[in-house]
Amino acid sequence: MIIALGSLKGSPGTTTLALALADRWPADGGEPLVVEADPAGGDLGARFGLAAGRGLVSLAAAGRRGGQPRPLDEHVQQLPGGLQVLPAPAGAEHARQVLGELGGGGWSLLWAAAQADGRPMIVDCGRLDPLTPAAPALRAADVLLLVVRPRDDELAHLAARIHVVQGWQVPAWYVVVVAEPGRTPDYRVRDITRVLGPRVLGPLPYDTAAAGVLAGRRQSRSGIGRTRLGRTVTQMAGALAASVPAEPAPPGLPVAPPGGDGRVALPPTRTGAR
Ligand SMILES: Nc1ncnc2c1ncn2[C@@H]1O[C@H](COP(=O)(O)OP(=O)(O)OP(=O)(O)O)[C@@H](O)[C@H]1O
Ligand SMILES: [Mg+2]
Repeated sequence: MIIALGSLKGSPGTTTLALALADRWPADGGEPLVVEADPAGGDLGARFGLAAGRGLVSLAAAGRRGGQPRPLDEHVQQLPGGLQVLPAPAGAEHARQVLGELGGGGWSLLWAAAQADGRPMIVDCGRLDPLTPAAPALRAADVLLLVVRPRDDELAHLAARIHVVQGWQVPAWYVVVVAEPGRTPDYRVRDITRVLGPRVLGPLPYDTAAAGVLAGRRQSRSGIGRTRLGRTVTQMAGALAASVPAEPAPPGLPVAPPGGDGRVALPPTRTGAR
């Protein structure tokens, strides 16, 4: 199973959710691998003091060399809590180059491992700009999770690009709303759900302690399992692992008129609390 995650604007917490999903993945669902396919450059290396060169860089090189496929484990690194990751190099130029080079065989190695070993691949695609070099992950994905905060600017980008997201034709896609600090957890979630229907997941709690553990800023012997973020993601991971989700019932999305700009009306923007 391949789960792609991405954002449309800002840094809503995509990497945090990718790690949280891997951490909370059901024990009988296979050993998840987090692939940091972020064209803006990786954060995991710096956050966890990982060795440079082992990860996407070494996978891209192995794919280019061709020959007998070698085990993916050669490229995988382990985070202190035990999560398995394929980190991206820091720096957008290097990361974009390496993601492009994965077309030489690296992506195929990943998808083959997902299929042969039943290994869930959780692919952090970073910001989903047009022409993103992480596009092969979108094409391969069973599920896409779009991570957004209920902010005017992020919702405006979501509304303007819904038709692009639909065009990627990922079998199932969902919008994960990350709660805002200082707001009730479900702030604006109902409004977003009114437009996007069952595609909306969350809200993901704003939880600095759990997010700090997942960013390597805090240590915790008990992990994130009992935190608010951890409990929410446990449910999300369980639902995703249970089945490749079928396309949800049509959520009543307003269809863009032919020749229109493809925009969809999301909740009106406002700055006050609801
Ligand atoms: N649910 C959350 N609650 C509290 N803090 C969070 C949450 N999610 C993320 N954060 C914090 O927000 C910051 C950005 O998170 P993260 O790196 O996951 O975002 P991102 O979308 O991957 O950003 P980028 O596009 O820059 O890669 C980090 O400091 C992280 O710890
Ligand atoms: Mg990130």
